[in-house]
This record gives sequence, structure tokens and C-alpha cells, in this order.
Amino acid sequence: MSYNTILIDQTEYLATVTINRPKKLNALNKETIQELHSAFKALEEDKQVKVIILTGNGEKAFVAGADISEFADFSEKEGGKLAAKGQLLLFDFVEKLSTPVIAAVNGFALGGGLELAMACHFRVASDTARMGLPEVSLGVIPGYGGTQRLPQLVGKGRAMEMILTAGMIDAKTALKYGLVNHVVSPEELLPLCAKLASRISNNSPVAIGHAIKAVNAGFKHDSNGYAAEIKAFGKCFGTADFKEGTSAFLEKRKANFPGT
Ligand code: COA
Repeated sequence: MSYNTILIDQTEYLATVTINRPKKLNALNKETIQELHSAFKALEEDKQVKVIILTGNGEKAFVAGADISEFADFSEKEGGKLAAKGQLLLFDFVEKLSTPVIAAVNGFALGGGLELAMACHFRVASDTARMGLPEVSLGVIPGYGGTQRLPQLVGKGRAMEMILTAGMIDAKTALKYGLVNHVVSPEELLPLCAKLASRISNNSPVAIGHAIKAVNAGFKHDSNGYAAEIKAFGKCFGTADFKEGTSAFLEKRKANFPGT
């Protein structure tokens, strides 16, 4: 299968998926989300593939977020649909994959980018990586599982601080928080991921699939936070703050939020 926005490299048991929109800092547009879905589905069905590494092309970014230019004029309904479809096609899909996915965070992982890294089974970062959920600076909230997975990984207080300040943390802080498991130089990033993949590949793929399912099961609760997030995310699209936040980003100026 050929793709426009991603690259796939496959050697023996290891597949590397590279998001390939470096000029847009690998921002996730509709096409990229659809292509990632198709690629992950095909790789999971390929029994030769035992581990997948996900990374971004270029030195600067893993993924700098969802593509803001695609949703800046969305209504509440369209906003809700955007989050629901993205969660279903990509973020929940990756988390539930029975083939392990390692995020190799090679630079900025912001918004949807950090949410995608968090949906992977674990994360390794280069020392140049910077991570954050800046959505509230745009008048919206994380909509691809960020309000749920960040507290699961770093604890509620740290997650609240990151989400409410919209700030970025460096790789060293992410390591301290437990958001990433290892930090290495950019040159060592893919080799370390490949080494971890090699260790995984020695183990039973069936047992690995069951282990992923069992670990994930511990994080699902009766009150569905992901559904609450989708509803709140959609509501943001009806606010003047959202129009101002996204317009300011696209016009390259500082936002002046009316607070409505
Ligand atoms: N959506 C759409 N386009 C994006 C993007 C996003 N999330 N992130 C970066 N880009 C685009 C920029 O618009 C720019 O495009 P242009 O060259 O056509 O103008 C290009 O990628 C390079 O980004 P730029 O902002 O010029 O790089 P920088 O080094 O000055 O800043 C960031 C890097 C990551 C700090 C900045 O791009 C940024 O804040 N991005 C948005 C992050 C965000 O809010 N993500 C959450 C989205 S919900």
C-alpha cells in the first residue's frame, strides 16, 4: 500500500512508521490520521511484524499537534465528531493494538502529538524533545484522550499543571514524571527503540497481546472520561475563545481571549 503522509520501513520483525509532513512539523491532518489507521491495521494483521516504532520525520518534531488549519472554523457538532472519530480511528486503536507500539519522540510532541505518543504502549525520547498539551491556549481542550492518559501516566496534579498552563516540559522532566521511559541523544533514539523491540520480539506475541489487553483494562472505569472529554471538546468549538485562539495561531499573533 502507498501513503502520502507516512513512511513505512519493515525489516524482519520490526516495522517503523514515520509521520512525514516535516514542513508542518508532522501535524496530524485528516489524511494522516486515516493513513496511520490503515497502516497500523495492516501491520497488526502481518504476523511477521512483532513490534512497531512510531516516530516523526525531521529533526524538529515528533508531531506538533492536530492540524489547526483543518478545524479552526468547525462548529460544536463538528468539533465533537472530530474528537470522536480521531479517538476511534487512531488513539484508542493504537492503544488496543495487540502488536506493541513504541513512540520514539524525536522533537516537539504537542497536543495531538503528545496524545498519540501517550496512546503508544511506551515512550522513548531524544534529549531534544519537548512535550505539552497547549490546547487551552487555543481556546479548546485536549480531544484525543489527553485529559485521561496524561493523569494516568504522570499523576493528576502534574497533568493539571501541564494542561492548565499549556506549557512544555523538556525530556529530562518527562523522564522524571514517568511520561517517557528513557532519554537518549537523537542519534541513539532509534537504535535504543530497536534494541527494546528486539527484546520484545523474543517473547510470545499471543501473550504480549493478552498482557496489553490486561494492562489497558485496569485504566477503564465505569464513568467514561473519554466520552466526557469528547463532549467538552465539542462545546469549546461554540465559544468565541476558540475562534480567537485558533485565528491568532493561524495569523501568527498572540491570542486576546474575550472569555466567552
Ligand atoms: N497545525 C497546523 N500547522 C502547524 C502546527 C499545527 N498544530 N504546528 C506547526 N504548524 C506549522 C506552522 O503553521 C508552520 O507552517 P508555515 O511554515 O506554513 O507557516 C510550520 O508548521 C512550522 O511551524 P512554526 O510555528 O513556524 O515553527 P516554530 O519553530 O516557530 O514553532 C511550535 C514550533 C511547535 C512551537 C509551533 O509550531 C506551535 O506552537 N505549533 C502548534 C502547537 C499546538 O498548539 N498544538 C496543539 C494543536 S491542538
